[in-house]
Amino acid sequence: MRLTRLHIHHLRNLNQVSLNPHSHFNIFWGENGSGKTSLLEAIHLLGVGRSFRSRQIQSIIMHEHNALSCFAEIKDDFGFATSMGIEKNRQAHVTCKIGGEPCERLSQFAGMLPLQLITPETFKLLQLGAEERRRFLDWGVFHVEPSFSDLCQRYQRLLKQRNAALKLASRWSSLASWERELCQIGEKLTHFREAHIASLIPFVEKARQTLLPQQSIGFEYEKGWGRDLSLEEALQQSLAQDKRWGYTSVGPHRAEVAVTLGNFAAHQVLSRGQQKLLICALYLAQAQRLEATLGKKCIFLVDDLASELDKANRERLLGLLAAQGNQVFLTAVDALGWQEVCDQFGGEMFHVEQGLVLEANDSGLVGG
Ligand SMILES: Nc1ncnc2c1ncn2[C@@H]1O[C@H](COP(=O)(O)OP(=O)(O)O)[C@@H](O)[C@H]1O
Ligand SMILES: [Mg+2]
Repeated sequence: MRLTRLHIHHLRNLNQVSLNPHSHFNIFWGENGSGKTSLLEAIHLLGVGRSFRSRQIQSIIMHEHNALSCFAEIKDDFGFATSMGIEKNRQAHVTCKIGGEPCERLSQFAGMLPLQLITPETFKLLQLGAEERRRFLDWGVFHVEPSFSDLCQRYQRLLKQRNAALKLASRWSSLASWERELCQIGEKLTHFREAHIASLIPFVEKARQTLLPQQSIGFEYEKGWGRDLSLEEALQQSLAQDKRWGYTSVGPHRAEVAVTLGNFAAHQVLSRGQQKLLICALYLAQAQRLEATLGKKCIFLVDDLASELDKANRERLLGLLAAQGNQVFLTAVDALGWQEVCDQFGGEMFHVEQGLVLEANDSGLVGG
């Protein structure tokens, strides 16, 4: 999948921007506050339906305007072209369109444009709670298993009902009635996740050999209950405790993707830069897995590639991105060295200045 045209309207300091992205590397360079990250934010809105910087739409819409919109022409990996657009206003109303037709479900919209996002905050994937890593894993399962999204929603609903019943002794007799379906769905989710991890590991390992050749990284799914038990058995064993605590303490909602180095969690021993490289390996692997399974290429958004990475590692990462042939949108604070990257791998530089985007080879304004 790649963007062949992008229009942005009233997003942060981007009043009106139109550009024709290159099919490979797109370098947005310019001073702090010029609007580079906002350009990535616009693509992220198209891919995911929300920003990666803020959950508050008010802060993203340009001051003194009521709505923002992003529109893209896209071409899939089989040459099929279509368009997608999203508009959000201050009243929290969202309109999504695919090929000019309104799109009812955000999950359908979000499936269109698979993105991998790498930012200076990326290392948090290893440091924050298990939920972040489950989300990373579920992203991959969601894209290859059409039933996964509905299964997750059903599981969450059943879990909520069970938790509500656990909190009231008068409803304990009803617990058994949720459990059967909860267990069935929980086991199914787990099966999908385990299969996904297993298929991901060879790709992670390949990227790891380039990015962290000295480190041997363990990467393992812990399903959220005792290894040798069925979910039904685990729920039985924890029932007394769950009644005391008023919530379900075992199940795939407690799963973890353990990323380790020897006996330690990876983030306890790796430097920030190494953590970033490891996470890049994970994202590169997700992208390769998606391409191997569905023939779909992800789009990479890389905000401030240079942060935490030395020159040799930046080059290694760029080399991997180049070899994978994805469309990449990168931001940088200056133009230094990027023309060579574009010449070597194919790409285009865009100078961003106070919300305007200028194409390098042509001094005319692309946005106004
Ligand atoms: N809602 C908004 N309306 C108008 N301008 C905004 C809004 N939110 C942020 N800005 C401004 O947009 C600019 C772009 O920020 P950003 O994309 O983060 O820049 P960069 O990544 O190039 O450093 C900043 O100067 C910021 O002050
Ligand atoms: Mg920025």
